Amino acid sequence: MNELLSRNGPTRRDFLRVSAGTAALVPITVLSEWTDKGHVPQEDWVRTARRQIPATSESSYFQTGGAGPSPKVVTDVVTERLVHQNRGPADPVFSAEMADIEPRLRAYLADTFGVERTGVALTHSTSEGISIAAWGVSWKPGDEVVISNQEHPANVIPWYVLRDRFGIVIRGIDLDVGSDWESEVRDVLSPRTRMVSLSHISRNNGRRLRSEACAELGQFLRSRSVLFHLDGAQGPGCVPINFRTLGCDCYSTCGHKWLMGPKGTGALFVREDQLDNIQLSWAGSHSHAAMDYDGSYSLIPSAARYEFGTRALADFAGFQRAVEWMTEIGWDRIHQRIQDLVGYAIERTNESSQLHVGSPKSEEDRSGVFVVRLPAGCDANKVYEQLGVGPRIVTSPVRQEGDLRLAIHFFNTKQEIDSALHTIERAC
Ligand SMILES: Cc1ncc(COP(=O)(O)O)c(C=O)c1O
Repeated sequence: MNELLSRNGPTRRDFLRVSAGTAALVPITVLSEWTDKGHVPQEDWVRTARRQIPATSESSYFQTGGAGPSPKVVTDVVTERLVHQNRGPADPVFSAEMADIEPRLRAYLADTFGVERTGVALTHSTSEGISIAAWGVSWKPGDEVVISNQEHPANVIPWYVLRDRFGIVIRGIDLDVGSDWESEVRDVLSPRTRMVSLSHISRNNGRRLRSEACAELGQFLRSRSVLFHLDGAQGPGCVPINFRTLGCDCYSTCGHKWLMGPKGTGALFVREDQLDNIQLSWAGSHSHAAMDYDGSYSLIPSAARYEFGTRALADFAGFQRAVEWMTEIGWDRIHQRIQDLVGYAIERTNESSQLHVGSPKSEEDRSGVFVVRLPAGCDANKVYEQLGVGPRIVTSPVRQEGDLRLAIHFFNTKQEIDSALHTIERAC
């Protein structure tokens, strides 16, 4: 039974019977079908969205946590803008239109994610945003940064480099499921702490930091002049994001995972009152508001100061289209669907005698990053390979041995979840 055809989804018996293939494709209709007009069953909007995402007909795609598949409207915009640009890249007839892309995108991201319009820098990845923040402090030997045991290398390597170049000290806290991370941060702070940098959602165990806890901690850290940075690679598009209420000083994210934009797009959100505290390490043409050749310059009075040089404007146009597309679908609908699907995956995993849930179970702490804990002796790397080659179920091993990640986005289906869990069970 196909979840897209049934409100209740498959039964346990169906689950065991279901084939390991991908969800059936559905016929093409027009994009204007987004809106529920009262008589349209809820699943129709998912069906319409799936038709727009070519990857959904190639595999059961559970790797949005690595790279999100773009809908066709996004790749179309990128292609169209690239072709337009190359009719005369430095010809004002064509370049004037291209010049509008970045300011429009900054404003759109700001309005969508609760950032001041002056607080958005466009980057090419989450990693770039993290590095802007990490290198924004004038580090002295013995200064301290706090990170966790659940970080992506993007939020580890910069600190190793800063340790080796400037003698900073890296302190760690425990961000395992259920840990009291906020108390741990408070306990590890010292007069030398300059920054706290944590995953908003862990790519390893899917744990989401609660907004209220972040806001409280942010206020406390600001009172001690400690910068608070969140790595939001797995955030926007996956869970509701309001930068203002989250209360951190800066937030790095990307367009190419849960926002389903072009690969190589990102953004750094910065509180306006921290612009001068997160100093520029790299700068160049376009970072400045004014300059002369006698040694004077002033920086752009916004986070756009962190950008410089010639940039991939067609990709940024695609980034905007991706976020618009999700806005058209409806953020509440997307977030609720992710919650529901993850709730379903938890239920199904709990029914298994072999598999366990490795990510948080409570709605407040969980995200679309769902982790299955495999039975002892079952190699997650091997299962990952097996799933990818035969049944075309695309997942990811993560740091904890025996854990396999299913990044569950709104376009996934209950049938895909059933097939994945069933195939994992059999593989083990
Ligand atoms: C938590 C986290 N941070 C950072 C990154 C790196 O992201 P990017 O490729 O956008 O630099 C990832 C990528 O998977 C991630 O999961």
